[in-house]
Amino acid sequence: MSGRVTAQKKRYEISRRSVADAQTPFVRNCWYVAARSEEIGQSLSSRLLLGESVLFFRREDGTAVALSNRCPHRSYPLDKGRLEGDDVVCGYHGLRYGSDGLCKAIPGRSGGATAFGVKSYPLIEAGSFIWIWMGDPEAAEQVPSPVPEWLGHPDWSVETGYLHVDGSYVHMHENLLDLSHLSYLHASSFGTPEYAAAPTEVSIEDDDIQVWRHVECVLPDLYAVPLGWRGERAMRRSGSQFVSPALHVNTGLFENLDRPDASVRRPTVKVAQLLTPETQTTMHYFYALCRNFAVDDAAVGAGMIAGMTKAFQEDQAAMAEISAQHATARSDEFYEFDIPTDRAGLEMRRLLKEMADEEMRSANA
Ligand code: FES
Ligand SMILES: [Fe+2]
Repeated sequence: MSGRVTAQKKRYEISRRSVADAQTPFVRNCWYVAARSEEIGQSLSSRLLLGESVLFFRREDGTAVALSNRCPHRSYPLDKGRLEGDDVVCGYHGLRYGSDGLCKAIPGRSGGATAFGVKSYPLIEAGSFIWIWMGDPEAAEQVPSPVPEWLGHPDWSVETGYLHVDGSYVHMHENLLDLSHLSYLHASSFGTPEYAAAPTEVSIEDDDIQVWRHVECVLPDLYAVPLGWRGERAMRRSGSQFVSPALHVNTGLFENLDRPDASVRRPTVKVAQLLTPETQTTMHYFYALCRNFAVDDAAVGAGMIAGMTKAFQEDQAAMAEISAQHATARSDEFYEFDIPTDRAGLEMRRLLKEMADEEMRSANA
């Protein structure tokens, strides 16, 4: 190994002791998005979330339910069984579970309720999504609603999407705080040349990590077309904020500089980036695009979500490439070099590591 690699690797190892990476244990005490509302119906389905296989269905009254997907008799997946009313019947030996997870009946054994069952997870259904709590159930009550007030608010439209990502949610959070990649990775989607020249403002106050960029520009078609501002000068303010391990918010504020009297003076776009780890190296990437203009115009919504999805697919592909590099790099030579625009991402990783360490400490106390 050359001396240069040795020195960089040493520096890298010291700097990484205090920040989260793909191997850091998940922060469990947090509301994560488990599914889009329309995905869960009156039939059994499952999804791997934070390394646990979770069974989903709706009760006859429409309430969504999440239970552990592993039958505690001989570990057969419950989603391979059947739903009878609000009960789940295991497809291997027929043990019957109520929607609270408790075993209600065992074939060949008389008597009713039993004292065992499968884990039941708290859920919140709001803003077009089903949010799940996979940490300490008592802590769930102390955490405020995870749903931003504009998500599902009647003054805002909402369009949702989903991508499966072959990459760690830590890397995706870092990507979202790093506006410097817009002009390169997203050059053909939502990056504009002016972005390269615009300075970034990083604001870090305790747990609040935000990055903002103000650019005077002609908006990319993704925004200019629905606003009717094609070819006109605009002030574009873009913000990116880490809210929790499960949620990151992008804000786009637009002002028409050529026509200060434009009918919607301050159109705003909010994007909820909803990141849910699947395994240490894969994740579910849900997103909700909300806007406060052309709210009832379905064609505008369809165009914007399609454009945004195209851009997010660029991140999805990049995350998979990066993950493959991590998997195959020689560990004795592996290091990553930081540049000034990494500051917010590294602060977020420091915070994630602190949250994970804190959970480990209280679990072991
Ligand atoms: S494994 Fe489920 S009933 Fe036996
Ligand atoms: Fe991106």
